[in-house]
Amino acid sequence: MDSADHAKELAAQKALEFVSDGMIVGLGSGTTSTHFIKLLGARVQQGLKIRGIASSNNSEQLAKSLSIPIIDFHQTSTIDVTIDGADEIAPGLALIKGGGGALLREKIVASASKKFVVVADSSKIVAHLGKFPLPIEVIPMAAPLVAAKLSALGIHPAVRHHPEGTEYITDEGNLILDCACGQILDPQSLAASVRAIVGVVEHGLFLNMADLAIVSSEREIQLLHK
Ligand code: 5RP
Repeated sequence: MDSADHAKELAAQKALEFVSDGMIVGLGSGTTSTHFIKLLGARVQQGLKIRGIASSNNSEQLAKSLSIPIIDFHQTSTIDVTIDGADEIAPGLALIKGGGGALLREKIVASASKKFVVVADSSKIVAHLGKFPLPIEVIPMAAPLVAAKLSALGIHPAVRHHPEGTEYITDEGNLILDCACGQILDPQSLAASVRAIVGVVEHGLFLNMADLAIVSSEREIQLLHK
């Protein structure tokens, strides 16, 4: 395990403190969330009684393989706490998410959560969002149209591909446009402009959603509040 991965595991370990018996827990996606799901699975095997709602097929499969009971929004409309990673964390806990391609379900899960806790290593902290390309999930048929409209906003979209060259398809059957935005000075305004484009399903700006971020380095764990 390298030092960033160890820091992610430390943050995930700390996040367990926000989970208790009887809770419905939103399960994020990505490498930090994977640490959390594995640690949570170990607690479930020791007797912790929780139910999970997963934000991706990968996280659902992992949780099930660890005997974490999985439910969906037919069984509940609220989640007690969601633990999920982030690609960038700016002041006010403004986030970019979607590096792992699960931003749509992640945002649905976060939106239903009473408490949304971000877990990350300290490399994710930024002064301004935008160094990490903003992932935008789009309907495949609309992708060229949406890309042209995003370009007109001054941002530079690229269709996400797997390393072997095929297009990346989300759990909901859509494409991801990774958008080079440069420094995002007004995230609310960008979010509104992107949301207004027909064919955009969701974007990776998570604004006013996170309650707390657990950010870890090898040496220390910081708790950042909104
Ligand atoms: C997936 C995400 C992840 O939470 C984000 O990419 C962070 O991933 P990692 O924990 O692997 O650094 O938004 O869509």
